[in-house]
Amino acid sequence: MRNLFLFSVFILTSLAMKAQSTKDEQAIQDKINQLVSELTLEEKAALCSGRDDWSTQPIERLNIPWIWVADGPHGLRRAPATNKPGYGDQLPATCFPTASALAATWDLDLLYKVGQSLGEECQAQDVNVILGPGVNIKRSVLAGRNFEFFSEDPILSGELGAAYINGVQSQGVGTSLKHFTANNVETMRMYNNSDMDTRTLHEIYLTPFEIAVKKAQPWTIMACYNRVQGVYGTQSPYLLTDILKKEWGFKGIVISDWFAVVNRVEAMKAGMHIEMPSVSAVNDSLVVEAVKNGDLDIAVVDQLVKEILTVVFKAKSLEKEGAELNADKHHNFARQVASEAITLLKNENQILPVTKEKYKRVAIIGEFASAPRYQGNGSSEVKPTQLDKALDMIKKEYGKDIKVSYAQGYKLSDDNDTSLIDEAKKVAAAADIALVFAGLPLQYESEGIDRTHIHMPASHNKLISEIAKVQKNTVAVLTNGSAVTMPWINEVDGILETWLGGQAGAGAVADVLFGKVNPSGKLAETFPMKLEDTPSFFNFPGEQGEVLYGERIFVGYRYYDEKKIEPLFPFGFGLSYTTFEYSDLKLSAKNTTDKDGVSATVTVKNTGDVKGKEIVQLYVTDQKSTLQRPKKELKKFVKVELESGEEKEVTFKLEARDFSYYDGKREMWIAESGDFSISIGASSRDIRLSEVVALQSTQQVPLAFDEYTFFSEYWKNKQTRALLMELVPNWIKGFTGEGKSGYTADFPGFLVDHPLLKFPYITHGEISHAQVMELVEKCKGFTYNP
Ligand code: BGC
Repeated sequence: MRNLFLFSVFILTSLAMKAQSTKDEQAIQDKINQLVSELTLEEKAALCSGRDDWSTQPIERLNIPWIWVADGPHGLRRAPATNKPGYGDQLPATCFPTASALAATWDLDLLYKVGQSLGEECQAQDVNVILGPGVNIKRSVLAGRNFEFFSEDPILSGELGAAYINGVQSQGVGTSLKHFTANNVETMRMYNNSDMDTRTLHEIYLTPFEIAVKKAQPWTIMACYNRVQGVYGTQSPYLLTDILKKEWGFKGIVISDWFAVVNRVEAMKAGMHIEMPSVSAVNDSLVVEAVKNGDLDIAVVDQLVKEILTVVFKAKSLEKEGAELNADKHHNFARQVASEAITLLKNENQILPVTKEKYKRVAIIGEFASAPRYQGNGSSEVKPTQLDKALDMIKKEYGKDIKVSYAQGYKLSDDNDTSLIDEAKKVAAAADIALVFAGLPLQYESEGIDRTHIHMPASHNKLISEIAKVQKNTVAVLTNGSAVTMPWINEVDGILETWLGGQAGAGAVADVLFGKVNPSGKLAETFPMKLEDTPSFFNFPGEQGEVLYGERIFVGYRYYDEKKIEPLFPFGFGLSYTTFEYSDLKLSAKNTTDKDGVSATVTVKNTGDVKGKEIVQLYVTDQKSTLQRPKKELKKFVKVELESGEEKEVTFKLEARDFSYYDGKREMWIAESGDFSISIGASSRDIRLSEVVALQSTQQVPLAFDEYTFFSEYWKNKQTRALLMELVPNWIKGFTGEGKSGYTADFPGFLVDHPLLKFPYITHGEISHAQVMELVEKCKGFTYNP
């Protein structure tokens, strides 16, 4: 059902449809400007908030239409009407695998196609903007929404997010990139302060958003609940205006997370466009009052309204009347997507795949095989168009040739009930292989609640161990949206991580188990041996509303590398039914500059018997850096498909940013001169080849010295040293030896590790405070080549 305005939509809509030229765009902007001039202040304030749960505010008097927004991200959760919450009564839609599964595909083309399908579903259900993707970093294994986010790595998260957005938006439907930013914990999520240094903010928590904005221009961005560096995400001029708009060139609008706004007027000043959902007219009247009493500039309101109208009219102009959902096609595609995500973690003695030659009788154990867990709890919950079960799929597709037996093994209704294990052991013992379906029940992974441990239910763990005692061919088939411990890891020959595979995940599991699909997923997050090993162990979920990001940039594999901690399974890891060989890593140059960058080419060969896909990962290491840097950082990746015996060359292009760190003091990215290792790996702990490139930086970077900078720093730099020679010549002379000039002075460290501010005292009055400040002033324009 379209809104009332559909048939009378303002001329703008048709103009927007044809808006190919700058002239057309100008015509649209002129019309919007005119509308803004006709709107009353009250109407403008109303436009900056939702009409109800899921729609924007229309202004009937001026034929300004409304648009429909709905969750997101791995399928559509559309309520029956825009003023209904849509929990339980949402319209059926295809439930695709959740973000942790999508990320395990590392496949940008696939993510684009998932986006396209979601866009098609939105068109079929009259939704203009889907609330996703979520590119928040998986900072802690305990975070309740990890199943809904892609990765612990910023580049991987950002690239996947961009591909998803481009796919959705190719269908004339917008996205809402969320939750901007540092929204990494559920406990106290509406109040917590993500307290971190500026470098960490940029390198880890802003980078995924930056990539997605620059590569895909989402129509909307969702501002987070939490505070970042002390300021609410909805009210941060630094995040919403300085960075998002000015630095990254974001052209869309910012909407709030649901009920995230604390002070609407401050939020609008910061650059937030729409408060969602509707929260009564109270906040609108505050806006009106603020304009009237001069606290809020009307020009700010007008600009926000113009930008809102630009998105609204664009969305209306791209609606496809009569679009229909092709449920079967999307179900089949969802199966393919789920199969690409499945990650083979262990395959001793080539226990998998299951073939009728190897195994005549297959025991399927575990209630998940008949009552699948396929998505997470919370606002992303999709009502699937259909739901496959692994037991049914396996019986239907393989039951002719193989005898399939089943035992429930545990009760999903009671984590600690182990009364079904004995019966399951009998079933397993009477077969040639046992496939044990286990993992995390729905209540373990939810929006709004963090986990307190990372174990599977006791009954699941015990079941796997007990089955392995009676059946030497045991495979654990895991269903979970985030990392778990595996106390039975050495007792089973096979482990298949199937994630939360969506409504068609069961068929995908069957495809991989029985070898129709060769598994190619790799972990987009580290699986730790134990919670105590994890980077944010001491600082999650925070205390009294403060979350200290104490591990700083050392998130995920960056931390395990630095601390030399062996994970259960490392970032980037995943096996295949075939093997791959890496050779001939070549760099386009041995010496380069930040401007030229460098290309790396490597050959990958399928050395096994079956066709397969390999995810090739490129990591960069700065061998020596002014600031502390991770041992390696993922910069590029690609998934390649290879027939048995086939080889392909892949090329990655590295640019200045790939070598840079973010300098929080200077507030800029810096690529320092020096040697960088370019490493190619099959995982973060399986580096196959490495070469070195020497980078000569051409950047001129502000020196950024002030009165607090140490004398030693001033002394190291040629320009400032000359000034020091003039400033305190006598004091310096006291440290020059026989026949040496002032430039070769040899200072004791404890003296020169004083800020310049202290030099009036240290030099016993040779200079005054005013002279120090004069020197500082002179240094302001100085730059250096890093
Ligand atoms: C969630 C968002 C979601 C919104 C609307 C919020 O509680 O954080 O991810 O899009 O609700 O359901």
